[in-house]
Amino acid sequence: MLSSFSYVFFTAMAVLLLWTTPVSGACLTISPYVMDVTATGATVRWETNDEVISQMCHREKFSTAWKLTPSEGMRGAHLRAVTLVDLAAETRYEYRVIASSTTSPSVCNDHSAISPCEVVRRSLSADLSTYFNCQEEFIARRAEAGDEPWHLDSEEFEYINTLPACNESGVTLARNRSAFRRLLRAPSSPHTAVAARRPLQMQSPNCADLVFEFKTYPIIGACGKVFTSWWLGDAGEGTLNQIRVRDAAMKFLDSDWDATVALGDNAYPSGTSYQYRTKFFGYYCGQFSKAPLYPAMGNHDFYTSTAYPELAGPFFDYFVPGLPSRSAYRSSYSFKYARVHVLIADFTSWKVWTDAGFWTWVENDLRAARASSETDWILVGQHFPPYSKGSHDSDTESRLIRIRERFNLLTDRYGVDLSITGHSHSYERSHLLQGHRGESSTLTAEMILQRGTGNNSIFSKSHGCEWSGTVHMVTGSASKTDTAAETTGLSHAAHDIAVISHCSVVIRIDGSSLVSTCVGADGVIVDRFTVNSRTCRPSGE
Ligand SMILES: *[C@@H]1O[C@H](CO)[C@@H](O)[C@H](O)[C@H]1NC(C)=O
Ligand SMILES: *[C@@H]1O[C@H](CO)[C@@H](O)[C@H](O)[C@H]1NC(C)=O
Ligand SMILES: *[C@@H]1O[C@H](CO)[C@@H](O)[C@H](O)[C@H]1NC(C)=O
Ligand SMILES: [Fe+2]
Repeated sequence: MLSSFSYVFFTAMAVLLLWTTPVSGACLTISPYVMDVTATGATVRWETNDEVISQMCHREKFSTAWKLTPSEGMRGAHLRAVTLVDLAAETRYEYRVIASSTTSPSVCNDHSAISPCEVVRRSLSADLSTYFNCQEEFIARRAEAGDEPWHLDSEEFEYINTLPACNESGVTLARNRSAFRRLLRAPSSPHTAVAARRPLQMQSPNCADLVFEFKTYPIIGACGKVFTSWWLGDAGEGTLNQIRVRDAAMKFLDSDWDATVALGDNAYPSGTSYQYRTKFFGYYCGQFSKAPLYPAMGNHDFYTSTAYPELAGPFFDYFVPGLPSRSAYRSSYSFKYARVHVLIADFTSWKVWTDAGFWTWVENDLRAARASSETDWILVGQHFPPYSKGSHDSDTESRLIRIRERFNLLTDRYGVDLSITGHSHSYERSHLLQGHRGESSTLTAEMILQRGTGNNSIFSKSHGCEWSGTVHMVTGSASKTDTAAETTGLSHAAHDIAVISHCSVVIRIDGSSLVSTCVGADGVIVDRFTVNSRTCRPSGE
């Protein structure tokens, strides 16, 4: 199903390319992205436009000697992966993807590096132009008589209607859904069709780099390491605000961070390969090539990917976290950076609620982390907020109620320091809480271990080494906000701060202090808070 779609898509794309520019051969439809980084290893993946032979070369930064590692094919057309082992800890590596089939490392120095696929630019025909978001630079054409008729999957184009259209000055124009839908759905003859696609790889200037770079992690348990992570919620709408949020975060981070977490709904509306390429990877290739990506599944990703035991669909094609600490669901897993433990959980499939094995895995993961003398901090990232009055209401939606009643038992029991979710397209941040399972109205004073004081709150968890209390955060506005949140008024009693504002979150952990900053699209700090947690264990310092 998907591969036949890919075939049709790429055929259509090839026709477009032929029609506009000379075909230049192999190119990257997804630039290299890094996953599963440890002190000694990493995985690099990419996707090409054709079944070209592609391999990866890497070297320690500034070294002259490249090493060549042939790639293995992954599920899904043209997807490749290379797993690097025996790397040195806390070391920068450079890498490039090449098209050569030769296995001699000498090819690493030649000019066979594969570039991102060329962006095809065409002016839009006048009657169509206002239906496209100009920021996305959609391509549209009517097939000329004599062209091969194309079949285009209407699902792939349906979502275009959900985007604001804007003209060439970037001014948002009124939408005319009915006209556009009719045009796509009912081409008037086999020789009249409309094709549209987003140009790939154009949103991030670093996408054009041919030599990429990543840094290996410190050894687990190491003291004196600062962990900086970047959290994106509901990032895959494909919008100008998504770019603004990204660029503001990069400026704030000075382009230096250790992990990117995508909290789900990574590619709207349904997580197809096409949507992943164009609304997710294409926007962040400069970021994903540099720091490892930790994806969580959201309900929109789940439309096209099926959970355990099938583990099929684009989400699993692109990700399949390769870390040893993963559940049978694969989309629930954990990773460590020095003294920080991060659990990424997936509650998208309804199967999890009746699967005792899943819950044993989750609890074991948190219990082991809290018991470990090598771990000081535990963060949990997953898509569904236990407390939200944003675009989703945690008092009424059954999945959110279940998260609160069941998963929060565990986050409380093991003193998870920070729980981060998306799903509601807003930013909401709680007081330091414990034991709240019911509706918003049932929150009592005893459940608030420490009340926040708005922006610049400082929480202290030095409660006799009991590790008690969790701050809960919703950050689902990395690409869009919505007015649905205004109707509920963002009024959950658990929250200290709740705003409708585009942002992403930077979390920096340095010794006994965690600082979380919601960086707005315009660079303004929407919220910042600190959690101080006395490290109950000898830090080794
Ligand atoms: C875009 O729309 C605005 C508002 O209608 C208009 O002032 C502007 O001239 C338009 N720009 C172009 C290039 O059409
Ligand atoms: C939308 O487009 C259709 C077909 O071109 C036209 O009949 C209709 O008046 C348009 N509606 C608006 C609100 O512009
Ligand atoms: C929050 O505090 C920071 C200083 O830490 C300040 O720069 C920022 O403007 C404040 N944000 C708001 C929304 O007041
Ligand atoms: Fe969602």
